[in-house]
Amino acid sequence: MSSLFSEIKIRGVTFRNRIVMSPMCMYSARDGFVSDWHIVHYASRAVGGAGLIILEATAVEERGRISSLDLGIYRDEHVEGLRRIVQLCRELGARVGIQLAHAGRKAEDYPPWEREKVKVRGSRDAIAPSPIPFGKNWRTPREMTKKDIEEVKESYRKALRRAVEAGFDLVEIHAAHGYLIHEFLSPLTNRRKDEYGGSFENRVRFLLEVVRIAREELPESTPLSVRISAVDHVEGGWTLEESVELAKLLKEEGVDLVDCSSGRISQEERFKEYPGHQVPFAERIRKEAGVRTMAVGMIRTYEQAEEIVSNGRADMVAVGREFLRDPYLPLRWAKNAGVEIEVPRQYRRAW
Ligand SMILES: Cc1cc2nc3c(=O)[nH]c(=O)nc-3n(C[C@H](O)[C@H](O)[C@H](O)COP(=O)(O)O)c2cc1C
Repeated sequence: MSSLFSEIKIRGVTFRNRIVMSPMCMYSARDGFVSDWHIVHYASRAVGGAGLIILEATAVEERGRISSLDLGIYRDEHVEGLRRIVQLCRELGARVGIQLAHAGRKAEDYPPWEREKVKVRGSRDAIAPSPIPFGKNWRTPREMTKKDIEEVKESYRKALRRAVEAGFDLVEIHAAHGYLIHEFLSPLTNRRKDEYGGSFENRVRFLLEVVRIAREELPESTPLSVRISAVDHVEGGWTLEESVELAKLLKEEGVDLVDCSSGRISQEERFKEYPGHQVPFAERIRKEAGVRTMAVGMIRTYEQAEEIVSNGRADMVAVGREFLRDPYLPLRWAKNAGVEIEVPRQYRRAW
């Protein structure tokens, strides 16, 4: 019996297994629109047996894009392409989520391969809780006013409505990796003197407000996930203890899954990745906050993923780069481990 390949039901949605394709920017959209690349890329992972595919960071505002080639959900016209991906992947047995994102001070308005060419990185329109640049050679973002905060919340609301229209099975709020919401959470990037800065309660306020909007807009049956950077990996930054406290609050607000990544808020961070390096975060948050978690980060083998789920260290396992190397990763893992799973009818002769 494989725990990894067992179903999991969250709210009204049943996932065929615990294997998640982690959100990964493809830098293949023009003006935010889904391209043929996205269709082929995501549908391949559905054929390959993923239980859940989370679409890459998708911008809720044009000024909140990580690059000029990000997917967007800031226009009604974006819905049609997104719906096509959802329908296709669902027909192939996968569930499909979308990661809603705002890049904050790390917003850039040129393709990623031009980053090295620009003199000063960052978009001129970038906004952030406090006017602190990401690093040397980065533009200083404009400090958000109360009006800006309300505007961005309204953008999330509209994006959520569009995500519902497109038919997504799950929505993930991107509150990690040094982007806008993480910039509110971390004392390294939030120096505000108003009710959005200072104490823990104030720094988590913006995320909780976004989560409340999400729960208002999503059907009761749709699961909600939040990706956090469980630690900043920098002295004086956000801590694992704060993540545990935050996870308890998120659970109370109706968040079903905490997706546990880490870092990328500061150029000062010093840490080395190693297999499963973020799993202890997912494990501790699951145990102490009593909320479902997703583990991610250098999870590359079936044995590793199976160990995480069967020992109750996380409920789901997200895989990034290994899924880029092999779109059929779940099928391969199941075959090598002798686990019987449903294989696409068209491919059965190979099994
Ligand atoms: C090409 C690429 C793009 C990524 N884009 C995103 C993203 O849009 N949102 C996000 O939360 N993480 C993003 N990540 C991080 C991955 O989701 C994942 O957390 C990370 O790669 C660690 O998992 P892995 O070791 O299995 O690759 C990206 C990673 C890669 C390699």
